[in-house]
Amino acid sequence: MSQGAVEIKDLVKTYVDDRGRPTFTAVKKINLHIDNGEFMVLVGPSGCGKTTTLRMVAGLEKITSGTIAIGDRVVNDLEPKDRGIAMVFQNYALYPHMTIFNNMAFGLQLAKKKKDFISEIVGRTAKALGLDKMLDRKPQALSGGQRQRVALGRAIVRNPIVFLFDEPLSNLDAKMRVQMRSEISRLHAELGSTMIYVTHDQVEAMTMGDRICVMRDGLIMQVADPLTLYRQPQNLFVAGFIGSPPMNLLKGKVEQRPGGLFFCEKAENNALSFPLEGRLQPLASKYVGKEVVFGIRPEHISNEPKAGSSTPVTLNVDIAEPMGSESLVYLKAGSGNVIARIQGEHVFHMGEPVAVQLDLDKVSLFDPETEEVIS
Ligand SMILES: Nc1ncnc2c1ncn2[C@@H]1O[C@H](COP(=O)(O)OP(=O)(O)O)[C@@H](O)[C@H]1O
Ligand SMILES: [Mg+2]
Repeated sequence: MSQGAVEIKDLVKTYVDDRGRPTFTAVKKINLHIDNGEFMVLVGPSGCGKTTTLRMVAGLEKITSGTIAIGDRVVNDLEPKDRGIAMVFQNYALYPHMTIFNNMAFGLQLAKKKKDFISEIVGRTAKALGLDKMLDRKPQALSGGQRQRVALGRAIVRNPIVFLFDEPLSNLDAKMRVQMRSEISRLHAELGSTMIYVTHDQVEAMTMGDRICVMRDGLIMQVADPLTLYRQPQNLFVAGFIGSPPMNLLKGKVEQRPGGLFFCEKAENNALSFPLEGRLQPLASKYVGKEVVFGIRPEHISNEPKAGSSTPVTLNVDIAEPMGSESLVYLKAGSGNVIARIQGEHVFHMGEPVAVQLDLDKVSLFDPETEEVIS
């Protein structure tokens, strides 16, 4: 296996109390391969086990069972400092009484590197990060964004085989977050190192990851590149997690009608029905009379006819959020609203009927029992 690849096999973490009794299993036998030089994002809601997984890779948390290998070495029993990793935390974890220079140099000083070498590499890295004018300052004299850059610089100077990031941008304001996001992506392109990046933010995951590992409750729900996750979610969880606003997920049944197969929403009033034409027909045919979940993304509902679209369905506007070049239109359905992202500078009024068409190529059907996609 090449030097910077990370192989996680049957990894389990059960936390124990101070008497060694198990309290909580945070990671439930996960398997994940990360290629040398890959930018892998671990994403999922708070508490799903992302930090626990990353800390086991870093060597900061004991592994309950399974193995982690970096390159050719199983690192289970290696000290963090011997693993060739560097970690960047959410809270920066800078030493408040040390100058920025010393904060960045600290790891190298501990490793007994030569003074000249340290000055050179810290100076060069600080310059690249725009910190060269503030090397004499203490952390409290820096803005949040600058502190986060110091934390990044401290990791870079150690020249690790694998960078580990745990929500490094969540303490920054929105604008700074976007800027740092592209800086980290550029850093990855320049260094070509393996990076494992933890976030709960799906936009961050989608914009930064070569591949994304979606986690829930200590399990991996899907691992794929961003477009595959977006186009082919394997289960309801991923479908609802990736995309903003998320995919509309309607509960209902497949019915055989004179005109063919239809998806019929389960609702007392205003139940929607959509024809299951084209590629959906063979998928739905196994579910005639049975329950399915019909998934359609807001951007695949349109008020203009397009090749491959369904027969138009007229729905009434509940509310609309105009955003300039597009509007998010909440359309009344039987069991709530269906959100459509409609392109163009339209004005929509409450109660107004809109004839919409669904891009049937983009619909996903799910089995409500297994929660898996029907394929
Ligand atoms: N020391 C601990 N003892 C018991 N449970 C813990 C401990 N640390 C974390 N947990 C639990 O493990 C789960 C996963 O935590 P964590 O890996 O921090 O999640 P994430 O980073 O995805 O938000 C959470 O439910 C958390 O409460
Ligand atoms: Mg965490």
